[in-house]
Amino acid sequence: MKPLLVKPAFQLRGRISLAGDKSIAHRSIILSCISKGKTIIDNFPDNKDCFNTLNAFKKLGIKILCKKFQERIIVYGRGLYGLKKPKGEIFVGDSGTTLRIILGVLAGQGFKVKLTTGGSLAKRPMLRVTEPLRKMGAFIEARGKIKEGRQEEYPPIVIKGGDLKPITYKMPLASAQVKSAILLAGLYAKGKTCVIESIKTRDHTERMLKLFKAKIISKKNSIIIEGRKELVSPGRITIPGDISSAGFFIVAGTVVPGSEILIENVNLNPLRIGIIKVLKRMGANIRVLRSRVNRIFNYEPVGDILVKSRKLKATRVKKEEIPTLIDELPVLMVAASLAEGKTVFEGVNELRVKETDRIRSMVENLKKMGAIIKVRKTKESEDIIIEGIKQLTGARVKSFGDHRTAMSMVIAGLVAQKNTLIDDISCINKSFPNFLEILTPLIIR
Ligand code: S3P
Repeated sequence: MKPLLVKPAFQLRGRISLAGDKSIAHRSIILSCISKGKTIIDNFPDNKDCFNTLNAFKKLGIKILCKKFQERIIVYGRGLYGLKKPKGEIFVGDSGTTLRIILGVLAGQGFKVKLTTGGSLAKRPMLRVTEPLRKMGAFIEARGKIKEGRQEEYPPIVIKGGDLKPITYKMPLASAQVKSAILLAGLYAKGKTCVIESIKTRDHTERMLKLFKAKIISKKNSIIIEGRKELVSPGRITIPGDISSAGFFIVAGTVVPGSEILIENVNLNPLRIGIIKVLKRMGANIRVLRSRVNRIFNYEPVGDILVKSRKLKATRVKKEEIPTLIDELPVLMVAASLAEGKTVFEGVNELRVKETDRIRSMVENLKKMGAIIKVRKTKESEDIIIEGIKQLTGARVKSFGDHRTAMSMVIAGLVAQKNTLIDDISCINKSFPNFLEILTPLIIR
């Protein structure tokens, strides 16, 4: 247990740069491992989730060197068919992205593997990914359970890959992890695999597959990949700063009066910048500076973000926008609590199945700090409705073991009147171990 006392901040001022984007980092490891030869990956984030992916591939026989002080990883890939059957099971920790995405790669291997988990991952749904992979021909066993009258599956998972066949899969839910697993399995299928999305999700896998010269085409709402062709490593990848980590500073810089923060080299993938779009609509003073040299890192747009504080007004966030800000919703709820008027976040039920139930964690915490929040059940999903107030008040709150709830409550504590006590912030290591090291020097009291 690592409790944290957060005192109110007067202002936040300074210039920061952040470790590489977590989603891009997972993909950079995976594709480097299944392409032949050496790939140097720079600005690799030193967080638990990404190291779970890295260690999983070490177990699968890939040599990976970590130059920790340079944030550099060197991967000696062995090609599409170069992974080895691991000795014993593979433990993926609490990383849902590791588990769901590597299932796509393992679906194409001729050996059997058992994947085990830690933390809250044992309670997170897996049928969304096992179902399409079985359709492609993988043999998968998982822990089955009836949840709310429906069959669901949970880890641990045993997978034995096979001779995969291509499928055309219309996504029943918006999930970049599921889409990625199918596209990676598609690398092993004979012919063309097609994924159709009705709501677009982050496309880092598609961009990185292009970088590794896969035969992949993205059309309007569909992505088509041709299998059984070896990938070609670009040799070197630089991972741009994590927009989800930046999100905490973007909100903090907006809501703490008199603040000004410059965040350098952030990934500005159009399917990840929902937080910027929504805050701007709420009146925030955020400028994206794209003018410096080398603004595309490996098919990913990059820029600096300058944020200055400004009073916010309420907005309506539609369900189509949710995947572009899914991980930033907790901190956006903090912003909405202080905006003038009623903010509505529509179709947010995926928040229920993150590291914790983030609707419950954030509603419970923010209510303790005086926020006015309601959850409205709709036919297919749930909406969050927040009536803004002038000032939050410090309280005793809980992280619920969830990194993004913990960091969002730190930001709420900075802008509140009186001190806030968070019960345990050790979970921050999952995505952003140096969060407090970066935040503290910005604070003026
Ligand atoms: C991720 C996709 C999202 C996101 C998660 C990372 C990814 O999850 O919430 O933190 O890297 O593909 P879903 O695919 O479950 O929406």
